[in-house]
Amino acid sequence: MQGSSSSTPGYDVASIRSRFPALADGFAYLDGAAGTLVPASVIEAITAAHRSGLGNVGGAFPASRRSGDIVAEARRAVADLVGGDPGGVVFGPNMTTLTYRMSQALAKTWRGGDVVVVSRLDHDANVRPWVQAAERAGVEVRWAEVELATGELPVAQYDELIGEGTRLVAVSAASNCIGTRPDVAAIAARAHAAGALVYVDGVHATPHGPVDVVALGADFYVTSAYKWAGPHIGALVASPALLEELHPDKLAPSSDLVPGRFEWGTSSFADLAGVTAAVEHLANLDASAQGSRRERVLASMAASERHELTLLAELLEGLEAMAVVTTYGKAPRRAATAFFNVAGHSPGQVAEHLAACGVNVWNGDNYAYELTRALGLRQTGGAVRAGLVHYSDRSDVQRLLEGLDSLA
Ligand SMILES: Cc1ncc(COP(=O)(O)O)c(C=O)c1O
Repeated sequence: MQGSSSSTPGYDVASIRSRFPALADGFAYLDGAAGTLVPASVIEAITAAHRSGLGNVGGAFPASRRSGDIVAEARRAVADLVGGDPGGVVFGPNMTTLTYRMSQALAKTWRGGDVVVVSRLDHDANVRPWVQAAERAGVEVRWAEVELATGELPVAQYDELIGEGTRLVAVSAASNCIGTRPDVAAIAARAHAAGALVYVDGVHATPHGPVDVVALGADFYVTSAYKWAGPHIGALVASPALLEELHPDKLAPSSDLVPGRFEWGTSSFADLAGVTAAVEHLANLDASAQGSRRERVLASMAASERHELTLLAELLEGLEAMAVVTTYGKAPRRAATAFFNVAGHSPGQVAEHLAACGVNVWNGDNYAYELTRALGLRQTGGAVRAGLVHYSDRSDVQRLLEGLDSLA
């Protein structure tokens, strides 16, 4: 696994790792679920954009046009990444900000007696903005529960949760703690049958496999570039026609066009050049992938998912072989993320010990507030999270397992 992944000859993890300057520090970066490293191509694209001279958009001079071109190119890149329409790609500082913004715009259309459905599997960024907007609008909130023994989000419960008056179903495409990938398409079909919109948190799903927002049935899909080798930028993807129906608060002189009217203030133009470079990077993960950028993204992300899941199997096997380790979540469809505790040590102590062994992992609730509460982990500091990404290799997994073995 240090070299190419056996199942995809064009997927050479050693070559992929060589594209990340920061890996030279020798750490095992298993903290990717909280933010990945960036490859040299992304660093260079951001630097080149600054060097070229950028102006604010909308001016008559070349530096202004360069910024406009960067924004348009980044919309095309994100659309290729998730199968969306470039005209419906909205950029913002991060997913949380975009979701608050969209919850305010959507809540303007809600009336007393309406219902929104959220899930306890989700990161709080796809829960609290809806709960708070619902409170203000006098709208009922219904909760989809996680089956704790398996970590699944059973679809059947949505038959009860969704009904007349349901306006929105917010659900994650993958848990950022236990990795569960719910059957979003089946949930969306139930939501659409009732006339509700579906808001999908794709922050954890996007880096871990191919995404098709149409197949998912996502009316809105949100993702964060810093989770897939890009800069700290969030993106929301929807159909332009749907965005046309919504009217967010905005400044009087700012653009009233879609998608620009959802973007507040001046954008991070140079970072947006990094977003495009990050999508190119992902499209090139499988060197044998052919065709359009969208086709290469799909092939490369499928190869990277196979690579990550092979490593996850190894990691889980090692963890489950340790009597002192408890792992959480057993969903058969999952992203390559492990969540676990070690008896006799707090999650913080485990993370500190692993850091001393050169292994980066997260400890805590990872903002999966409802999930960690349901699992009974809130009083004890949550758990340890080890996330595999496209540049992880077998040595990262081995170092984590050896580090745990050496925990006194
Ligand atoms: C699943 C998931 N959703 C939402 C977020 C929030 O993303 P952002 O930091 O872009 O606001 C995160 C961040 O960790 C996440 O993992």
